[in-house]
Amino acid sequence: MRAVLIHEHGGLDKLILEDVAKPIAQSGEIVVNVKACGLNYLDIFVRRGMPGLPIDLPRIGGGDIAGVVHELGEGVYHLKVGQRVLIDPAVTLPNGEIGALGENTTGGLAEYISVPAENAIPLPDDVSFEAAAALPIAYGTAWRMLITRGRLRAGEHVLILGASGGVGTGAVQIAKMQGCVVYAAASSEDKLARLQALGADVLVNYVEQPDFHRYVRGLTDGAGVDVVVNYTGGDTWVKSLKCVKHGGRLLTCGATAGYDPQTDIRYIWRKELDILGSDGWQRDDLIQLVDAVRAGKIKPVIDRVLPLEDTREGHRLLEDREVFGKVIITP
Ligand SMILES: NC(=O)c1ccc[n+]([C@@H]2O[C@H](COP(=O)([O-])OP(=O)(O)OC[C@H]3O[C@@H](n4cnc5c(N)ncnc54)[C@H](OP(=O)(O)O)[C@@H]3O)[C@@H](O)[C@H]2O)c1
Repeated sequence: MRAVLIHEHGGLDKLILEDVAKPIAQSGEIVVNVKACGLNYLDIFVRRGMPGLPIDLPRIGGGDIAGVVHELGEGVYHLKVGQRVLIDPAVTLPNGEIGALGENTTGGLAEYISVPAENAIPLPDDVSFEAAAALPIAYGTAWRMLITRGRLRAGEHVLILGASGGVGTGAVQIAKMQGCVVYAAASSEDKLARLQALGADVLVNYVEQPDFHRYVRGLTDGAGVDVVVNYTGGDTWVKSLKCVKHGGRLLTCGATAGYDPQTDIRYIWRKELDILGSDGWQRDDLIQLVDAVRAGKIKPVIDRVLPLEDTREGHRLLEDREVFGKVIITP
């Protein structure tokens, strides 16, 4: 079968399209014919390598997989060959820790993948493979960060940085679904116009307003917003602390632009801020997301769909911030 492998960390040229052996379903596993695989910024980190997060190489990336059951391993009775499924990317590793498909084990940038059968979520016919493959890592994480960890309430004012990306477009829709007033921040007018169409109430261009904290405080009579969602890190961190209101929350699930930013602790104690980390999703979050898509409450934003041989281009689009929503690969 065809697959995209990473043999060594580095640039786009380290993504190699190859022929490899098709997997066989072991006991308790299924082989899935991959119809769609969503790319995430995680795939960029896996390709580049991140200090402190060792990746075994070679690795096939891609954690967000939707497809059709192709083969059943021994002892798998609750699924059928030909059934449409979304795969929960969270897997238990041999050391007992939870890891992700495409990061800690083989991913879905391939024609077939073997996964634990318990990770399959039945996919209704009215949710496309592409829409489903947009959900787990980005929208699942946004769901847990905003709903479970962030406890967003109707009427709260929520600033979302990097709102145009995968987690971001999910976060905007989930915050709107909760009845919040959404301040969407992005780097271009084009992205902001699309965020407005997605439901954002207030638009913040942080290229034109590099001191976006002043701008946001100005919009809120100097008070700041109830919640800031910041998975960008870098030089946006202290500015984010500055535009949360007294008693507000700052939510984070990542650090696209830098994981060890300068901080300013004064803002945390003087404004009695809660800084809440969020990592990944629960199975139930994914089931609720599929239901929300079926009900039309969430519409996964797909920037473009590319064939497997264009995986490098998909990575480039994410790395160069040229994406609005998700890039989906169809092996
Ligand atoms: N902990 C978890 O479980 C978990 C799960 C999913 C994602 N994450 C993390 O969340 C972050 C976002 O992931 P994603 O998949 O949504 O990424 P994405 O689709 O590439 O979106 C990231 C957005 O951030 C903005 N951005 C700001 N500075 C950037 C930079 N230096 N490089 C690239 N983009 C930058 C971009 O929008 P503008 O150009 O408009 O600024 C971009 O649209 C990543 O750090 C990822 O690792 C964590």
